Amino acid sequence: MDRILAAAPPMGWNSWNTFGEEFDEKVIREMADVMADEGYLDAGYEYLILDDCWAEMDRDQDGRLVPSKKKFPDGLAPVIDYVHGKGLKFGIYSCCGVKTCAGYPASFEHEAVDAATFAEWGVDYLKYDNCYRPVSQTSEMLYRRMALALRSTGKDIVFAACQWGTENVGSWIRSTGAHTYRSSIDIRDNWESIKGIAEVRFDHLGEGGIGCHSDMDMLVCGMNGSSKNPEVNNEGCTQAEYKTHFALWAMLASPLIIGCDLRKADDFTKELLQNKDLIAINQDPEARTCYKLDCESSPGTFALVRPLSGGSYAVGLFNFGEKEMRAPISFWDMGISSAAGQKPSFHDCFMHGDAGTFEDSFCVKLGAHDCSVYIVKPE
Ligand code: GLA
Repeated sequence: MDRILAAAPPMGWNSWNTFGEEFDEKVIREMADVMADEGYLDAGYEYLILDDCWAEMDRDQDGRLVPSKKKFPDGLAPVIDYVHGKGLKFGIYSCCGVKTCAGYPASFEHEAVDAATFAEWGVDYLKYDNCYRPVSQTSEMLYRRMALALRSTGKDIVFAACQWGTENVGSWIRSTGAHTYRSSIDIRDNWESIKGIAEVRFDHLGEGGIGCHSDMDMLVCGMNGSSKNPEVNNEGCTQAEYKTHFALWAMLASPLIIGCDLRKADDFTKELLQNKDLIAINQDPEARTCYKLDCESSPGTFALVRPLSGGSYAVGLFNFGEKEMRAPISFWDMGISSAAGQKPSFHDCFMHGDAGTFEDSFCVKLGAHDCSVYIVKPE
């Protein structure tokens, strides 16, 4: 059988969170260098994605999109070649409406020509937004149209539908052919935004799976309130909050698309984004979803549990509350029976070491907005 495209959630970097409209060829080349040279590509981040604002305002005489002459004076071909030369894949952005969200030309009624153009340029990934959609059109039909246009090119192009979680998207998106779908509104660089997006996802835990992943939006880890994009920038987050953000996205099988300026990432950010244990959970080949266990005796805390291939489980303990709390999990709630002599072993995904074996239950103290994640073997 041929490889399934985007069997696991795609991983990469996208220009929007940090740069908004303000990027150019030099920044993109530098980001490709950092991704390849500083461990990100080896960790699994393979797509470098240009978001909105990469095009000229007018199409050419053949109706094709034209890369911004100011940002890419020699066109996109040499930039895409450069990105491919680093062992990375290249992603681009368009929109199913008549304009992109930032007002640039979009693909409504140009689906076939745009898909063919992207394929000819060597594009490997398309983020496809939902702005300026004619009221007569459903996004379901427009995503079907672009998915079909991309498939018709004969080239493997990941189709990332940016649908924001409206129109009950999780119930129909897989049937369009999309590989990922945004399931909530745009992220901002603050804790309330991270928490809000996670809570939307909790209402749809059963959705997503191999080849069609629920996309909780790009990561803000490492941004620390430094974005040049007014639509994303905020006060930033604490280290505990960025850690919880990454752990949630990993556990909940969201695509991991970095949004910070990798050239400026500090050691904490780099270690977090390259956490091998959390990435392995995110990329687990079975791509199973989580179940959630709330804890009445410790309000604000909860566990997410995800079956992994090979028989182990990922267990995340989270504290969404405003003060330090004990976050417990009872093994009975996972189906583990101590009467049968089962004593699960815990591997700590942040300390990267054994945390011990336990009977009946496990508990950890967590500061406000903090978390712990474990690989649990029910032996
Ligand atoms: C929408 C999307 C964002 C980003 C912007 C670009 O808001 O949800 O992720 O792509 O458009 O204009």
